[in-house]
Amino acid sequence: MKIVSIVGARPQFIKAAAVSRVLRKTQGVREVLVHTGQHYDANMSEVFFEELEIPRPDYNLGIGSATHGAQTGRMLEAIEEVLFKEKPDWVLVYGDTNSTLAGALAAVKLHILVAHIEAGLRSFNRCMPEEINRVLTDHASDVLFAPTQTAVENLRREGISEERIHLVGDVMYDAALYYGKKAERQSQILNRLELRPKEYILATIHRAENTDDPQRLCAIFEGFAEVAQEIKVVLPLHPRTRAALVQTGLYDKVVRNISLIEPVGYLDMVMLEKNARLIATDSGGVQKEAFFYRVPCLTLREETEWVELVDLGWNRVIPPTSKERVSAGIRESLQASGGLDGYPYGDGKAAEKIIKSIASSEK
Ligand code: UD1
Ligand code: UDP
Repeated sequence: MKIVSIVGARPQFIKAAAVSRVLRKTQGVREVLVHTGQHYDANMSEVFFEELEIPRPDYNLGIGSATHGAQTGRMLEAIEEVLFKEKPDWVLVYGDTNSTLAGALAAVKLHILVAHIEAGLRSFNRCMPEEINRVLTDHASDVLFAPTQTAVENLRREGISEERIHLVGDVMYDAALYYGKKAERQSQILNRLELRPKEYILATIHRAENTDDPQRLCAIFEGFAEVAQEIKVVLPLHPRTRAALVQTGLYDKVVRNISLIEPVGYLDMVMLEKNARLIATDSGGVQKEAFFYRVPCLTLREETEWVELVDLGWNRVIPPTSKERVSAGIRESLQASGGLDGYPYGDGKAAEKIIKSIASSEK
């Protein structure tokens, strides 16, 4: 059985690493890895292949950055070409990026079976490009691997038939368990940045709704800068956010207070997360990782897809509408203790369940 896996953006390299490891140990299945090239900077792409033991992509389509339509369209055409050539039995797509949608669409039009990993997530906010990608990918896919019970219920509500839905847990939890230990052994980031455990806040911001709205961007970064006078704020800066900060003239203003660093590799990121006193983010993956390492999290968005984190009390969601709201949110979260314990993301064997299910499927 031949499986084509489509990846392209940072979180997909991490998810694919967890699945690929199992896939390549399974007899009778062969993976062809396709990188769309959506992310291309060395610290947004190459670093993950180096440290996560992911095999080199068989194809790098080199699509790069563009508007949504142009980027997705170019991917669609290039992926189709690969599928014509490879004729796989299955296409695997991950998450909710433009690479995900292009992969699912290219495959379903060629009547190739599509499996969506991390299916059923919903923010119910159709202004988010990711929400459109999720809904369309789920409805185009043959098999939906849901990470949570909430995701299963979302899919059921949309009329997706029961036999297509598989609750398997979250492959990011698999990755956190496996690489968490490796990070402890290998990462030197705390020494390099002279950070002491639980004496800093880790922040990441990259969501379009925050970077592309100057008022929100300003509220977030000025809020961080204010808090940074009391506790260090370390922020690996996504290239999209760097560009927005430079364009709005905010970069020079905040760089004095916030420890802005280049995006880091996954092992360094895990170490930064594990040892943070608080994580403030708009990332989907980082919200969950905060919980995996039992670090309180503040999500700077209107809503979250990962509602279990809020229910368990490990995550608070605050729309970053003003600097005061952001700084007050952080101060309150710093005072709050952790939440309840729970395991809503499976048992760390999501990848095994996914590959077992695909490998045993009828062609
Ligand atoms: C994408 C995903 C988002 C995901 C995020 C993970 C979509 C619609 N969005 O957002 O869901 O959370 O990846 O990080 O697919 N850039 C570089 N170098 C790079 C990559 C990007 O400079 O290697 C800059 C470019 O200016 C580009 C911008 O970042 O225009 C945005 O990149 P893009 O891949 O379009 O979206 P992300 O914001 O990264
Ligand atoms: N991440 C990383 N280095 C960084 C920032 C994030 O390795 O500098 C990892 C993070 O640990 C998580 C994933 O990237 O596993 C999340 O990706 P991102 O926030 O870009 O996207 P999202 O999850 O919001 O789609």
